[in-house]
Amino acid sequence: MSSDRISIKPLSPHIGAEIGNVDLTRPLSEQQKREIHDAFLKHGVIFFHDQDISFAQQMELAQSFGHVHIHVGGEGTASKPVPDYPAIRRQHFDKDSKRISGEVWHSDQSCAEIPPAGSILQQKIVPPDGGGDTLFASAYAAYDALSAPMQAFLEKLTAVHDGAKLFDKGTKTDYPKAVHPVVIRHPETGRKVLFVNEGFTTRIVELSKEESDALLNMLYAHIAKPHWQMRFHWRPNSIAFWDNRCTQHFAIWDYWPNVRSGYRVQFEGDARPSF
Ligand code: SIN
Repeated sequence: MSSDRISIKPLSPHIGAEIGNVDLTRPLSEQQKREIHDAFLKHGVIFFHDQDISFAQQMELAQSFGHVHIHVGGEGTASKPVPDYPAIRRQHFDKDSKRISGEVWHSDQSCAEIPPAGSILQQKIVPPDGGGDTLFASAYAAYDALSAPMQAFLEKLTAVHDGAKLFDKGTKTDYPKAVHPVVIRHPETGRKVLFVNEGFTTRIVELSKEESDALLNMLYAHIAKPHWQMRFHWRPNSIAFWDNRCTQHFAIWDYWPNVRSGYRVQFEGDARPSF
C-alpha cells in the first residue's frame, strides 16, 4: 500500500466516515480523487479535519467531482454568495441572526429539477462552548427499514418539492419547484433511496391532501429516527462532504448568540432523480 493512500475511519454502521492522510490545500492525485469519491459513495458523508482551504481550493475540490451548482432560490435565503465566487455560499450566523440554514431535515436544493449531487461545507468559526453540530441520516437505510408492502407502495408515487417551504417568504413568488419520485435509485450505486424531506417536500401528487399529509408525516418521523443517523461535531477548518442524493441533514442552532461561520459549495448531478 503506497503512503499517499487516504485513511478511512467509519463513524457509524450506516453513514459517515472520517478521512485522514490527505492535505486538501495541495492538488489531489488521480488516485486520491478516486479514493475520496469511493469513500463518499460508500459512506454518504465524509469528514476532514484541519483543512484550512481557500475559496479557490474549495472550488477546485468541488470541480474534481462535477460541475459546480449555482444555488436556486435566489437571495431570500439565510446564506449569501461570496463576492467573486458565486457558487460558494457564506453561512454565517451570530447574535443578529433570525434564522440559520438547514434547521430541518432536508437534502439540499431538492426543489431544483436536478438537485446537486454533492455538497462541500467548511467551517471557519465554530461556537466556543460547543454546539452547532450537524446531524446526517442515511436515506438508503431509512428506505431499507420500511416494510416490503410500504416500499412497493412508495415506489409508485411522486412528490412536489417546493422552495417556498424552506426559503424566506418575503415578496418573492417564483420559488423553484420540482416533482421527483418518492423513491429514487442512486445513479452511481443503484441503491434505492427514500427521497422526500421535511424541508422541501409539500405534497404527494397521486394522493389526497389528507392522505399525503399523513404519509409524509410518517416518513419525516421515520427518516429522523436515530438508527440511521450520526452527529458531526465541527472544529475550525473541518469539512463535511455529503452525497446529497442518498442523505439528509439537519443543522442544530443551539449556539445563539455565538458565531458559527462557514462556506458551502455544491456540484451538479447528471440527470433528474429517477427510479
Ligand atoms: C446546510 O443545510 O447546508 C447547512 C448544514 C450546516 O450548516 O451544518
